[in-house]
Amino acid sequence: MDTNVQKRRENKKSLRVKVISLGNAEVGKSCIIKRYCEKRFVPKYLATIGIDYGVTKVQVRDREIKVNIFDMAGHPFFYEVRNEFYKDSQGVILVYDVGLRESFDALDSWLTEMKQEMGSQANMENIIFVVCANKVDLTKRRVVDESEGRLWAESRGFHYFETSAQSGEGINEMFQSFFSSITDMCENGGKRPTPEVSVGFTKEQADTIRRIRNSKDSWDMLGVKPGATREEVNKAYRKLAVLLHPDKCVAPGSEDAFKAVVNARTSLLKNIN
Ligand code: GTP
Ligand code: MG
Repeated sequence: MDTNVQKRRENKKSLRVKVISLGNAEVGKSCIIKRYCEKRFVPKYLATIGIDYGVTKVQVRDREIKVNIFDMAGHPFFYEVRNEFYKDSQGVILVYDVGLRESFDALDSWLTEMKQEMGSQANMENIIFVVCANKVDLTKRRVVDESEGRLWAESRGFHYFETSAQSGEGINEMFQSFFSSITDMCENGGKRPTPEVSVGFTKEQADTIRRIRNSKDSWDMLGVKPGATREEVNKAYRKLAVLLHPDKCVAPGSEDAFKAVVNARTSLLKNIN
């Protein structure tokens, strides 16, 4: 074959993409990348200073993908350095430590920082996000369970993976799925393809489960005022039961939320004449 034709074909099949890692300091962003690229784990904490940059080549189907990885520092001190690097990313690896609730709660503020820095370019719809619930090897100190993390991720259309940079669990699966979704997006003209199957639950269901988890007492959980009547409690209960019944709702955590609502109703009705 003519070498020029061959080269053109190869060029068509090769892709260059930019991905970034985000999440609080010390959650394991650099270790996840190191585990994938270098197949090793470093137990000693070496904080990323500003940004670490690396390139890796991966094969997705018949395409060679050149991935530029910008590994961000999570410490607030490096905000000024980080903020330059959000633009033009096709993929984001969002990481939290399953043993530190504040690192999970911080995911929203990482998305906010990203949106803010991308400014008018901010089309978050055309970026692939994966969420890594990291350090799952440290089972005893785990405080954020799988259903909570999965619900946060999937209700936003993000992929969710349980990972351990220490043992390697979930790391290859996460990167393979991540790069394959980015390739799909590039082949779809840079737009995130609409999933063939929907996540199977609504935003209302996801928001309700989150609200139930965070409620401070049984009144709050049912969404009624303290001192509400039997009818009001039952009405609120029926509405939640329809939304969360395990036969109807497949959202992660719906079964526990449903049980909590049943218990809340029982305990409230016991004390109402
Ligand atoms: P910054 O660069 O400061 O934003 O931190 P980072 O998110 O890049 O964290 P890093 O990868 O440097 O890891 C922080 C610490 O957590 C290190 O001591 C790692 O050895 C440890 N660590 C990372 N991933 C895991 C994991 O999956 N399991 C365990 N047990 N420790 C981990
Ligand atoms: Mg780092």
